[in-house]
Amino acid sequence: MSQHLLLPLVILAISPIPGAFPDSDCGRPEPSARIMGGSDAQPGSWPWQVSLHQGGGHICGGSLIAPSWVLSAAHCFVTNGTLAPAAEWTVVLGVHSQDGPLDGAHVRAVAAILVPDNYSSVELGADVALLRLASPARLGPAVRPVCLPRASHRFAHGTACRATGWGDIQEEDPLPLPWVLQEVELRLLGEAACQCLYSRPGPFNLTFQLLPGMLCAGYAEGHRDTCQGDSGGPLVCEEGGRWFQAGITSFGFGCGRRNRPGVFTAVAPYEAWIREQVMGSEPGPTFPSQSPQPQSVLSEPTDENCTIALPECGKAPRPGAWPWEAQVMVPGSRPCYGALVSESWVLAPASCFLGRISSDHQPGDLDNWRVLLPSRPRAEHVARLVPHENASWDDASDLALLQLREPVNLGAAPRPVCLPHPDHYFLPGSRCRLAHWGRGEPAPGSSSLLEAELLGTWWCHCLYGRQEATVPPPGEPPQALCPAYQQEEAVAGSCWVTSAPPLLCQTEGGSWVLVGMAIRGSRELFAAIGPEETWISQTVGEAHFLPPSGFTLWPPESSDLCPPDMAGASGSPQAAIFLLLLTPLIQG
Ligand code: ARG
Repeated sequence: MSQHLLLPLVILAISPIPGAFPDSDCGRPEPSARIMGGSDAQPGSWPWQVSLHQGGGHICGGSLIAPSWVLSAAHCFVTNGTLAPAAEWTVVLGVHSQDGPLDGAHVRAVAAILVPDNYSSVELGADVALLRLASPARLGPAVRPVCLPRASHRFAHGTACRATGWGDIQEEDPLPLPWVLQEVELRLLGEAACQCLYSRPGPFNLTFQLLPGMLCAGYAEGHRDTCQGDSGGPLVCEEGGRWFQAGITSFGFGCGRRNRPGVFTAVAPYEAWIREQVMGSEPGPTFPSQSPQPQSVLSEPTDENCTIALPECGKAPRPGAWPWEAQVMVPGSRPCYGALVSESWVLAPASCFLGRISSDHQPGDLDNWRVLLPSRPRAEHVARLVPHENASWDDASDLALLQLREPVNLGAAPRPVCLPHPDHYFLPGSRCRLAHWGRGEPAPGSSSLLEAELLGTWWCHCLYGRQEATVPPPGEPPQALCPAYQQEEAVAGSCWVTSAPPLLCQTEGGSWVLVGMAIRGSRELFAAIGPEETWISQTVGEAHFLPPSGFTLWPPESSDLCPPDMAGASGSPQAAIFLLLLTPLIQG
C-alpha cells in the first residue's frame, strides 16, 4: 500500500480517545461493514477479535472486553501447571489479514495474565483467562469491545452464533495466506444434546463429561467447527443489535468431526470472576442486561435426545474414483485392496492375511502394517485385525476388518462405502460395478468395462442355480447376486490377478453400496454382504448401513418358473438382460 494512502488511516487511528466510545457501546461493529468450514470475515465485522502472539507468531485468539482487558482461554498460557510470563505475549488489535505489515493494527504488551485458581486442564473446565494490557487499546472502527453476558443471561439452544479466528481450516491444515480472519456460524447445543452426541459412537470413542461452565456449539454432522489456533477466541451471539460473547473457544476432539461438536467455556458463569479481576479499572467491561428473556430457553429437558449423524457414505466423484478404496500394505507381500466402512475400519478379504494371523488372531507385526487412503497425507497405522470366524473355510465369509489406530477425518475423501442391511433389496437392473479388492491388480483400462446391471434373484437362480447348485431358489439363503455385464468379453479379459472383486451397486440416490463378494473367484455369482450386518456392526460398533429399502427381498415366484431354455444353461448374462427387459418386474 502506498504512503499517501496510509496517512489518512494513521490520522483516523490516533484520533479516537480511549473511552470516547460510551461504556454501553459494546458488541456493535461499525455498520458497514477457521475455523473449519467457515469463510473470510468482512474487515471490521469482528472488532473485538484480537490475536495473541508469542515468539512473533499467532498462538491463540482473544476478545477485547474493555480498553485494557482481553478475554481468552487459560490453556493458551498454562503448560504443565505453569503460567507463561506475561512479557512473552503481545496482543494484536484491529487486525484482519495477518500477512505482511499488519495494516491498521496496533500492538499492546501484556501486563498480567490472570487464570482462575481452579484451572488445571481443559477437560476439567475453567478454561478462561484475562489479560491486562500494558496500555489501553486505541478504540476505533476496527477495535471495539464485545458485550459480556451476565450470570443470569441465557442463550437459547439452537441459536446461530459466530466463532472467529485464525486457526486451522482442517485438522493439521493451517489457514493459508493471506491469513484472513475466518468466521463460521455455529449453533448452540443444549447440555443434554451435547452430552448425548458425545456418548454416541463416532470418531474418538471416549468418556467425555460436559461440566458446568462448558458450552457446546456446532452440528451433529460436523464439518463446521473451530480448530487448533482458534482457542481463546470468542463465540458471539447477536441479541437486540448487539453481540454478546457466549463462549470462549476451548477444545474439541479432532475438528469438524461428526457427533463431536466444539467445546467452549461459557462466559456467563464467569461474570463474578471477571468483575473481580477487573475491579477498579475504568472503563471496565460492559454486561448489558438481557432483554427480553427468551422463554424457550429456561428449561431444557435433561433427557433430551439428540439426532446423531451417520457418516455420509457411498458418494463418489465418478464411478471408479472410489474415495473408500483402501490399500493395505503388509510387509513382504503385495498390497491388498479393501474398502473403508467407517472412520476407523477397513473391510478387506481375509484371504489377504490368512497365514499371517496367529492362533489368537493377532499377527505379531501389525505395527508395520499400513493403510493408504485417498487424500490422506500419510499412511494409517493398524491397531487390530478381526477376521470373520468362517473366513478360512467359507468363500462367502472371506472377510476381515482392520481397525485403524486413529480415526480418519471423513469428508469428500476418504469417505466410507455404504453397506446394505440384510434385507436391503436392490432392484434388478440396478447399476453396479466391480471394485478393487484383494491382492490383485486391475488390468489396465478395465474399470470402464466392468459396468454391470443386477439380475433378479429369480434369474440368478435360473441361470446359475441348477447346474452348479450354488444359487438356491429365491427365498433360501445364502442370498446370491448376479450382475450382468454390459460387455461380456471384458469380464474374461479384465482379471484381478488373485482375488475376486466385490460388487458395488448404486442406490437411486446415487450412493454406492458394497453389496456382494464374489463366490469362488467367479465374476458372475456374488454372495450378499447384507447378512454380515451383525458381524460388521458388532465389530465396528457402528457402520453406515443403508436403511432397509422397503422392498420384499424375495419375489414370490417358484423356481419351476425357469424358462425351459434356461434350465441348466451355463448362463449368458447378455441373454439374461434381454429376458429381463422382456419380463415385467414383478418385485416391488
Ligand atoms: N484447543 C484448540 C486451540 O488451542 C482449540 C480446539 C478447538 N477444537 C474444536 N474441535 N472445536 O486452539
